[in-house]
Amino acid sequence: MITLKKRFEDLDSFVINKKVILRVDLNLPSFEGEIVDFTRLEKISPTIKYLLKRKAKIILISHMGRPNQENKESLSLKVLCSKISAYINSEIVFIEDNIMNIKRDKIEKAFNNCNVILLENLRFFKEEESNDDGFSKKLSSFADIYVNESFSTCHRKHASIIGISKFLPSFPGMLLEKEVSNLKKLITTANYSTSVAVFGGSKVSTKIKVIEYYLKKFGKVIIGGAMANTFLSSKKISVGASVYEKSMQKVAKSLLDYYSNKIALPEDVVTIDKSKKIQLRTISDVQKDEKILDIGPQTRMKYFGFVSECSCLLWNGPLGFYEQKPFDEGTNYVIKAVKNNNNKNFFSVAGGGDTISMLNHAKASDYFSFISTGGGAFLEFIQGSGLPGLDSLND
Ligand code: 3PG
Repeated sequence: MITLKKRFEDLDSFVINKKVILRVDLNLPSFEGEIVDFTRLEKISPTIKYLLKRKAKIILISHMGRPNQENKESLSLKVLCSKISAYINSEIVFIEDNIMNIKRDKIEKAFNNCNVILLENLRFFKEEESNDDGFSKKLSSFADIYVNESFSTCHRKHASIIGISKFLPSFPGMLLEKEVSNLKKLITTANYSTSVAVFGGSKVSTKIKVIEYYLKKFGKVIIGGAMANTFLSSKKISVGASVYEKSMQKVAKSLLDYYSNKIALPEDVVTIDKSKKIQLRTISDVQKDEKILDIGPQTRMKYFGFVSECSCLLWNGPLGFYEQKPFDEGTNYVIKAVKNNNNKNFFSVAGGGDTISMLNHAKASDYFSFISTGGGAFLEFIQGSGLPGLDSLND
């Protein structure tokens, strides 16, 4: 289990008038070309504001999307300048040049007109993902201090995550520290048998390891979303025309055999057919042309009971097709159980993938003790192993 050796506050005394290269995650969720969620930006803003208050100059670096090491205009960070500027209440200069060609002078000059610079999408450069030392060295030459405020990319062995720390004094950001300390509580909870994990979303294949980990550890694992279809179909229950993963049926079946008392699966579901007719079905009654898009009322009540009574909760992913009404009702219902949980010392964490969007949709963000900004990094970290980006801060 990782323990960060350095603290954000350690840089406090010598950050004044220094240049800080701040790795953040501006990979904000978008829909049809429009950014739809600014949570990650909102959560890093206090760190930027704090550094500005301490008279530091800041060079923001981030990736956006997976441009395949090409310069794709649609993934340029330029579009984010005005939004970041509004969040941090400070002017920003965007330098769109090829990072390898930027001279330190250019950075110095830009800082005559502002205190924050944003560089172009790091993943436009192949050197970022190949963790090229020259690239890390170049980035570090712009600054005096490196701060990693990007927990959500700490599972990537990229230059901006594990490379720069070889060349500069390096520190965790405030948000990164919070992520580590809260997610550690999940792994070290004292009451395993009364702890519950909720896993939703579409793919068992991307979450199988973490599901297994919590099946071993926690008292109950609730499965929802299209993932549940894979488990149900592995028991030869017909899921009609629903999405499921054939290749994961065998694994799902072996987990069901081994952990039959721990896994909770839908007992009734809401389906839609080709003519868009919505039906409530018991799980043994789903018709060939129907798709399961939500959990039914019996299942909602059952899941609500587990969540409202547990001592520690991990929630990852939606229980139905929450983006489209009325298929958000199952998720919205069960999530209310988090608010209703009256256990003394109840601790709840949500994170990974679509979880933040789902919580915003359900207006349930306030219900949880902590919400992680991590996707893949969150799922890896909560399995108890370290992350390369965190290890490199300790080296
Ligand atoms: C995320 O959205 O989880 C992070 O930005 C990491 O993105 P990646 O999976 O493309 O590395």
